[in-house]
Amino acid sequence: MSAANDASILPILIVPDPVLRKTSRAVTPDDLPFVRELAAKMFATMYKAPGIGLAAPQVGTLLRLVVMDLAPDKMPAPIVLINPEVVAASEEKAAREEGCLSLPEQYADVTRPARVKVKYRDLDWVERSVEGEELLAACLQHEIDHLNGVLFVDYLSSLKRNILLRKLAKEQKEKAKR
Ligand code: NI
Repeated sequence: MSAANDASILPILIVPDPVLRKTSRAVTPDDLPFVRELAAKMFATMYKAPGIGLAAPQVGTLLRLVVMDLAPDKMPAPIVLINPEVVAASEEKAAREEGCLSLPEQYADVTRPARVKVKYRDLDWVERSVEGEELLAACLQHEIDHLNGVLFVDYLSSLKRNILLRKLAKEQKEKAKR
């Protein structure tokens, strides 16, 4: 997962690491110098993985910080979200297959509000908002969930969740042996 020759690649915590279940604290303006450095490392880590979203707790820092880039190959549009908050969600729901860098190679359909509006601050502490549907809506909600210790498997039936978590544990054990 981490490349020894690249100090900016951070190790990604894998389920069942208990840190992934903690609630992250809000970023304050005093945190910004640290957050700028961390966000840069999180992008490097996310692109390398590769993934389209990464939340700070996934790299072991319990701060409300998310980085995303939905189409890094086709149309790179990196976005940093500090203290993101869903301020509006559609009643209409949509199901979409989700995965997570903290549950490598596991995928399942998750049903969430189809459209959301998210308020956040950027790296210059400017208040911004983003409205999204489809992949953007799902990704925003998935990443914000990480800040509250919630994982996409929490939306599955206990039967489906247990099958997926057992498969992950088995694959991680085999990977550790190699
Ligand atoms: Ni995730």
